[in-house]
Formats: sequence, structure tokens, C-alpha cells
Amino acid sequence: MNIIITKNYQELSKKAANIFLNQLALKPDSVFGLATGSTPLGMYAEIIKRFKNHTYDFSRVKTFNLDEYYGLKKNNPQSYYYFMQENFFKQVNFKDKNINFLNGMASNPQKECADYEAKIKRNPIDLQILGIGANGHIGFNEPGSKLNSKSRLIDLDKKTIEDNSKFFSSKGEVPTRALTIGIGTILSAKKILLLASGKNKAEAVRGMVEKQSSAKCPASFLQKHNDVIVIADQEATSMLKKKYKSQNNFEDIIYNENNISIKRH
Ligand code: GLP
Repeated sequence: MNIIITKNYQELSKKAANIFLNQLALKPDSVFGLATGSTPLGMYAEIIKRFKNHTYDFSRVKTFNLDEYYGLKKNNPQSYYYFMQENFFKQVNFKDKNINFLNGMASNPQKECADYEAKIKRNPIDLQILGIGANGHIGFNEPGSKLNSKSRLIDLDKKTIEDNSKFFSSKGEVPTRALTIGIGTILSAKKILLLASGKNKAEAVRGMVEKQSSAKCPASFLQKHNDVIVIADQEATSMLKKKYKSQNNFEDIIYNENNISIKRH
């Protein structure tokens, strides 16, 4: 696990956008695993900004989102599908047919999840973007989720409902169940980029990075993957006990801001 500690959220978002766009440059038909939540918003905004200034092309990119609330229609402003449309998809040139989402209204969630899982297997994820829940969840894999878990319907943790109520007008409106890809599905991605910002993530980040991996902190299972980059700001890393060198070398392949060629330091 490689940790990049940034001064603040803005720097985190820029570094994350660099890694995302590097992946696109290296493989224009990349498959991205995407995340919702407030943390990746800055990265999406940065990518959109650079898309407008340069000639990035997302038309061959495929995406698979991590999760969706169960019982919410796509056009519900609280759905993750809606969130992604507004905050990312609509603003770059993705093709609709290349966007994949778990259907929160599926009448047979087991079949929905099995089909999604099979589609990911046919289109292996090159770069999986993740946030982290304050309880250590990734996607909606709540504490107790197993290492080899696959896509499934899950009951949301009390803590998650509380935390995510910031996006709803009241706690009572937050769905209590969700569809999520599993930990095993996440670990099948070739590369993983996890973003964490703010003090309320500090304990989860410590569990993920420094504690023995266990279902108590699902993000700790990422220790089992051999290509994980964590970009976290100072607040989110404030509980780490070991010293981590600021590792900026992950950006050694960077975009030349004036065109899309790649520059190596
Ligand atoms: C939700 C999502 C997660 C996300 C988490 C953190 O529960 N299912 O994928 O990582 O929220 O959200 P935030 O970035 O808003 O703290």
C-alpha cells in the first residue's frame, strides 16, 4: 500500500485527477471503477476542468460504479446514478452504453448482482476509485463483510445511515439497504486508488493502513492487493503512528498541461 499524504483536499483532488488521467492516457479504453460520496467530488471537478481545456477523450472508457441505494429510482436526486450524472458523466464525453450501474430498483437483486459481477469479469477494472466510510467501509461493504465477498444486497450500518444523512433532508429518508460490489470484486481491479479526507476518516485510515486486516475494518483488506495508492490529507492521516515519507513519485508520469502527451521526470 502506497500512501501519499497531501496538505489539503485541493492537493488530494489534483493528485487523484493526475492518476486518473494518466490511466486514460496509457489506455484510452480503460475500465474505471467509480465511487460516489463527497470525497471524489474534487477529483471529478478537476478532471472536468482539464477535459474542457484539453482534448481528453472518454468515448472509449467504460465505467462501473461501486454501489447504489436499494429502492431508489435512477432519476431520484438522491440516487448514486443521479449523483454521477450530475457531477461527472454529463460533463465529459462518456457514451451512455459504456456506463454501468447496479439497478437500485431491481426486482431480483440477486440476479442483478450476479449479472453485474459477470459483466465486471468480462471487463476487468483497470483503475478502481474508492472513498472510505468513517467505519472503514469501501463501496457499501460494511464491517463484517468478507474478504472474498461479491456483489450483493446489504443492510447499511447505523453509522453509515447517520453519516450519509448529510445528503438527505432527514435521517429517516436514508435507504436502509444498498446494492454493492464486494470486497473480492474490488480486489480483482488491477489498480486501486483510495481517497480519504478529513478528521472523521482518521480512525478508519489507521485501521486500513496499520492494523491487521480484518472484517472489522473492510478497507484493511486492501492490504492484500499489490497495487493500491492511498491519497489522504493531513487530517485523515493524523492517527497514523508510523512515519510516512511524502511519496510524490507516483506522479512521475504527468500530463503536459498543453497537450495530452506524457512527461516523465
Ligand atoms: C458512501 C459510499 C462510499 C463512500 C462513503 C464515504 O457510503 N457508498 O463509497 O466512500 O460514502 O463518503 P464521503 O466521501 O462523503 O465521506
